[in-house]
Amino acid sequence: MYNTRKISADLTWIGASDRRLALFENVYPIPLGISYNSYLLNDEKTVLLDTVDSSVSKQFFENLQFALNGRTLDYVIVNHMEPDHCAEIANLLKIYPNAKIVCNAQTKKMIGQFFALNLPEQQCILVKEGDVLNTGKHTLRFIMAPMVHWPEVMVTYDETEKTLFSADAFGTFGALNGNIFADEVDFERDYLSEARRYYTNIVGKYGPQVQALLNKASGLEIARICPLHGFIWRDNLAWFIEKYAKWAAYEPEEKGVVITYGSIYGNTQNAAEILASKLADKGVKNIKMFDVSQTHASYIIANAFQYSHLVFAAVTYNAGIFVNMDNLLRDITAHNLQNRIIATIDNGTWAAMAGKQMREELAKLKNCTFIEPNISVKSALTEAQLAEIEQLAEQIKNSL
Ligand code: FEO
Repeated sequence: MYNTRKISADLTWIGASDRRLALFENVYPIPLGISYNSYLLNDEKTVLLDTVDSSVSKQFFENLQFALNGRTLDYVIVNHMEPDHCAEIANLLKIYPNAKIVCNAQTKKMIGQFFALNLPEQQCILVKEGDVLNTGKHTLRFIMAPMVHWPEVMVTYDETEKTLFSADAFGTFGALNGNIFADEVDFERDYLSEARRYYTNIVGKYGPQVQALLNKASGLEIARICPLHGFIWRDNLAWFIEKYAKWAAYEPEEKGVVITYGSIYGNTQNAAEILASKLADKGVKNIKMFDVSQTHASYIIANAFQYSHLVFAAVTYNAGIFVNMDNLLRDITAHNLQNRIIATIDNGTWAAMAGKQMREELAKLKNCTFIEPNISVKSALTEAQLAEIEQLAEQIKNSL
């Protein structure tokens, strides 16, 4: 049975949610589920904006048929050709063979690659930056947004209703539970952390490209943002756009210390815990601590984007960095995090190597400062080393 919601007289949300999927992109835990948003514009022409993941295709096709209300489908705008939004294009064209695909040249190429589908010229309207499509009352303008998140990405701006169909940008992890608008929930309390985790892990690497899109968007009057995942924004847009501006610039949102440790027998954890207590003694309030073997890297990366100071504590393992910490650090450098103050603690019973190697990996990050020196624990922290931890806490506090 169809399940849709009206956004305006002409625009209908026809997406669906998945609460069964354990790992989005087979990588990211999504305990709150995920939504795949699709939109139908009923104008003189009918316009579908993106489709959905195949996991929710049954719901999507029922929604589409209902929202069309007996009309045929004239246009399908493909803003993003990743399969979580376009898995159903080939099936869609079987049901609506006269629909025209509106996309850019790179998207057309990808459609061919994914579906072995060579769209005939008359079925494809190729668009580029600034092109417009008139559908009756509505004028849709296409704005290229390469690498937000794939190279073919574009966004569509409805000049008539001032709606930005923003593709992956402004998305959020989490299923939609009836409430499809951000102003229908307590977004900051319940969803901001998942929005941050979504942004930083999915698009975080591409800050300059997100900034380019934000620059283009700043020239538009935007009353509504319709992303492909999560809530639609029609209120308090500036607040969320400001978050994006900070994330894209790799600026910390808050002063605070994220301590992440990789510990086998608890001694490295002990050093991390003592550091946290000494920081707290000095009045530091925003302290987050993660066991790298317990917390999925995506959560730690989101925290690393949120806070100003990062401490990594890890044992030496196979003459290198403890494996889970090694993976995390590579993930962080792959996401191009910048502008942080970093400290390291390592542990080695006979040849401590982790500190040196952690710093070598983290030195790839731009504009990051290391607090000196690396603290090196030999099996277990000694009474004499408490002064080193105390000194590190003091240095962190002074640089906050
Ligand atoms: Fe939600 Fe890049 O796809």
